[in-house]
Amino acid sequence: METKKYLIETFGCQMNIHDSEKIAGMLRNLGYEETQDKFNADIIVFNTCCIRESAELKIMAKIGDIKAIKKQNKNLIVVVCGCMTQQKGMPENLKKKFPFINIIMGTHNLEELENYINKFNATHKSFSDVWEKEKEIKEQTNVYRTSKYNAWVNIMYGCNNFCTYCIVPYVRGRERSRKVEDIKEEVKNLVASKKYKTITLLGQNVNSYGLDFKDGKTNFITLLKELSTLEGDFKIKFMTSHPKDFSFELIDYIASNNKISKSIHLPVQSGSNAILKSMNRHYTIEHYKELVDRIYSKIPNATITTDIIVGFPGETDEDFISTCNLLEYCNYSGVFGFVYSKRKGTPAEKFENQVPINVKRERITKLFDIQHKIVKKLSDQLVGKEIEVLIEDKVKNFYIGKTEAGKTIKIKDEDLQVGEFYKVRINKALTNDLVGEIIKC
Ligand code: SAH
Ligand code: SF4
Ligand code: F3S
Repeated sequence: METKKYLIETFGCQMNIHDSEKIAGMLRNLGYEETQDKFNADIIVFNTCCIRESAELKIMAKIGDIKAIKKQNKNLIVVVCGCMTQQKGMPENLKKKFPFINIIMGTHNLEELENYINKFNATHKSFSDVWEKEKEIKEQTNVYRTSKYNAWVNIMYGCNNFCTYCIVPYVRGRERSRKVEDIKEEVKNLVASKKYKTITLLGQNVNSYGLDFKDGKTNFITLLKELSTLEGDFKIKFMTSHPKDFSFELIDYIASNNKISKSIHLPVQSGSNAILKSMNRHYTIEHYKELVDRIYSKIPNATITTDIIVGFPGETDEDFISTCNLLEYCNYSGVFGFVYSKRKGTPAEKFENQVPINVKRERITKLFDIQHKIVKKLSDQLVGKEIEVLIEDKVKNFYIGKTEAGKTIKIKDEDLQVGEFYKVRINKALTNDLVGEIIKC
């Protein structure tokens, strides 16, 4: 008998990318193999996101495309899971719009996928099961990793922050931290496999790791300390940090530990105190700048990236100018900029002074223009510097590496080891990448 095939369509953040690796593990437990061809698949899983309306519309269109395939292949199983289904009324909406979906499930019962597929195969009856509340963390053993040198590791789930624009706390539940021992065991095995050179710790607000244990001793720094005792040539990254909990102590710790990446993602969202307050972010721009100053002064070669929302309700031209000025101040090496999108059930949905779409578009274009210039300036400043680079590929007679901040660098050399770190001198900055040479010891 031919092996059955699966295809997973993933949308959204790193958390979802990693959830899809868990989904793949469960499907492989059931004997499925991967395919990229939806016409050849026996099961298609949509792992969805609802962070912005644009994400939802895209996913709806993709699910709609399956109707024709399902007509040709009546045995195809269609599963929809992830953040989108977790919203009130969404499972009913999906069932009505796409009656061909076989299993609708949410984020809190992801681990039930194997059981659900078995149930469907036994009954051939479509069903929906979305749990309203999160449950205790169930450790999963068979994760099928798809990224090459980087391994994602959840350290916590959920979010307690309720930023007024954000749907995540409603679809991912409250903060739950994984046990230090479980995380350490997973990282130890990943490093021992010698396949992974960076370990990226995942959580919606990693800086509040361990606080839910209420034991008075476990926190994010103690976790980092534990993980960096592991032997091996690897770097620890983490995302996402929240400026309200990102402490001076953590900055000093990052500076002191060469296993921790110096590329820091610190979402600011807006450069205006009035908007930050209305977003319920619990920090001021003055405090954020203090954090940035300390990062640059204490951590040589540090790079900072951020997330920004433009067009939040009530954002004036002056507020937006403050955000543009902040970009210049922080010298971000990357900005993930988003146009504010109304999310059902969040407080900001009801805020007055929603910003017209044409103004939002103008602002995001301006933001990217400013950022583009900053990136060019930073790249030019890198010329002559020595940095550590992970060699990820060889294309023709060039090796392709990545800097810690994720910039691509081309290196002409004879025999380098793909998957290893090297010290590199940067010789040239092109529009998108760098050119460098290995520093031979
Ligand atoms: N927990 C992380 C990431 C959350 S989602 C954090 O706090 O930074 C990733 C980004 O999506 C956010 O940082 C924010 O910039 C953006 N985002 C969230 N909700 C949004 C909305 N309703 N409209 C536009 N962008 C949004
Ligand atoms: Fe959303 Fe704010 Fe939580 Fe991030 S910290 S997931 S932006 S509510
Ligand atoms: Fe991530 Fe989207 Fe959910 S950004 S947490 S997949 S809503």
